Amino acid sequence: MIDIFLRPELAADMAKQLLEPSALDIGLRSGLFLSGLRRTGKTTFLKNDLIPALEARGALVIYVDLWSDTQTSPVALVHAAVRKALNDLQSPTSTFMQRLRALRGVEVELGGFKLGFNVDALGEVGGVTLAEALTCVVDKAKADVVLLVDEVQHAITTDDGQQMMLALKAARDAINPRPKSPGYFLFIGTGSHRAMVNELTARRNQAFAGATNVAYPVLDSDYVAFWLKRLAADGLDNLPSLEVATDAFKTLGSRPEEFIRALRQLIHSPSLSAGADVLLPVIAATLRTAAADLELMKVEELGVLAQAIFARIASVDGETRGVFSSEAAGAYSTFVGREVRVEEVQPVANELLAANLIIRRGHGLYGVTDPFVQEIWRERQALLGKP
Ligand SMILES: Nc1ncnc2c1ncn2[C@@H]1O[C@H](COP(=O)(O)OP(=O)(O)O)[C@@H](O)[C@H]1O
Ligand SMILES: [Mg+2]
Repeated sequence: MIDIFLRPELAADMAKQLLEPSALDIGLRSGLFLSGLRRTGKTTFLKNDLIPALEARGALVIYVDLWSDTQTSPVALVHAAVRKALNDLQSPTSTFMQRLRALRGVEVELGGFKLGFNVDALGEVGGVTLAEALTCVVDKAKADVVLLVDEVQHAITTDDGQQMMLALKAARDAINPRPKSPGYFLFIGTGSHRAMVNELTARRNQAFAGATNVAYPVLDSDYVAFWLKRLAADGLDNLPSLEVATDAFKTLGSRPEEFIRALRQLIHSPSLSAGADVLLPVIAATLRTAAADLELMKVEELGVLAQAIFARIASVDGETRGVFSSEAAGAYSTFVGREVRVEEVQPVANELLAANLIIRRGHGLYGVTDPFVQEIWRERQALLGKP
């Protein structure tokens, strides 16, 4: 187990707001969306802090990561996760049942739940719908069900993803407004693309219009202090001050991996005698773009046409249209230095999609998947003197 810095208080607060909302927080039952850049610890927080905190309050939590497999449709991933959770639930030895028994004692039937429908047909034609299935679980278990969808922005990239969001909204609206509902259905989505996550709650035509949208609380000086203390315990001296180290962590976009890389460079640096507080900011400034550079390298590896397509998409704020137009093919031809035919574009664009470097944002609309990568790409272009 690597060293995870836990944030139990933050998680417990969030779990309480979600499961026992005050009058002011009741809106969270319409859905909660958290957005923050990639590699800042969202998934780690969900898995190690938030899910245990929700479970400790008796909720059944279903987690699905839409980024785990960009080749499988979001719907298929969500259905599979729900089916698995429901099958587990019907086993008397399921961890959920055990937890519920520990929380409530004898009240909970020993035999496990019998849901009374075919779980495997969930979402299939003629099978039970998400709304029916989730209502049944809430009513039989008399518990809250929380569906956590990580990298939720992938759901708006396809029509069936949009359909799925509507199906989840239908489940929410079937369960939550009932006057004496024995539990609630909560939907939490997280995403690495703030603009796209915003669209999910801001656009009137989106299923979760009006749901709450907040920034993921990034790790802060407590996390930095945790590391400095560990290094001191390892017998290292000449460590940076908390203030300088916290600034370096922020320079690195509050990303743990980059921060650890910076600390390692610092400790192994031959010029450490100059002083850790002098050296660490320099290291942080050079490492700032390392993660984005890795992604940009993947674009390069896909070849020069891929670079041309990526450039067209990355140079536009928001979404790019006409990636496959003949006008675009003309621009690619100039970039590549030979004539590019329109038919050549689609397969290469598909490779960029499969590598998760670009993302489909709607019919014929594309964007860069990671806004930080886009920012660094633009910095590089500016350095090269390109517009
Ligand atoms: N609280 C934490 N303590 C230690 N390491 C962390 C913590 N949060 C994130 N990390 C590390 O940072 C990296 C990125 O975290 P991840 O949760 O995958 O980010 P995200 O989901 O935002 O892309 C992982 O290597 C993870 O182990
Ligand atoms: Mg993640």
